[in-house]
Amino acid sequence: MKFTWYGQSTFIIEFGGKKLLTDPALSANPLAKNLNIEDLEADYILVSHGHGDHVSDLETVAQRTGATIISNYEIVSYYGNKGFSGHPMNHGGKWKFDFGTVKYVNAVHSSVLPDGTYAGNPGGFVVWGDGGCFYFAGDTALTWDMKLIPLTCPKLDVALLPIGDNFTMGYEDAAIASDFVECENIIGCHYDSFPYIEINHGDASQLFEKKGKKLFLPKLGETIEL
Ligand code: NI
Ligand code: MN
Repeated sequence: MKFTWYGQSTFIIEFGGKKLLTDPALSANPLAKNLNIEDLEADYILVSHGHGDHVSDLETVAQRTGATIISNYEIVSYYGNKGFSGHPMNHGGKWKFDFGTVKYVNAVHSSVLPDGTYAGNPGGFVVWGDGGCFYFAGDTALTWDMKLIPLTCPKLDVALLPIGDNFTMGYEDAAIASDFVECENIIGCHYDSFPYIEINHGDASQLFEKKGKKLFLPKLGETIEL
């Protein structure tokens, strides 16, 4: 599995021979102003919820790539009405795609599209297959529901967790989340994009180190292979 970070919650994940793009939103992120939206390639686009910092480039990228949008029923229907192809899911459900199995799991957050359209309930994704198993949490608080993941999914190799605090869990709660989901490798996201979610990198890394875990804090455009 290869994870390339494009700021906030935007990753390109190479998995099972496909490119999975998560929450494409470079244009909503001041930190990502030097990154090129044209670099966002995708066979599938996983969308955790409807907030602007997760969907601002979705239509542009979906139009160019023809990628299939995987999200909750409401978000897939919304973009479906605009002519984009998608696969609707809802909490607790899983589906076998050509790259692997995707399970749509709970997130504690809110969800509305930038134009005010109801965007269903926010979620995260657990994805597994020959390449391994990862969890993309989306925007979420620490929640007991995370304990269901090791009970219902294969052992996680890596978890992509929000760590910026204020709008989602901070790194302290993310460290507990990593215990709940029973995962040793964490890639941090949803931090530093705006003043509300700036974090101290050293403190965050140390906290995970103390637990015998690895917190990856990739640079913009950096690829982590696991
Ligand atoms: Ni959000
Ligand atoms: Mn967000």
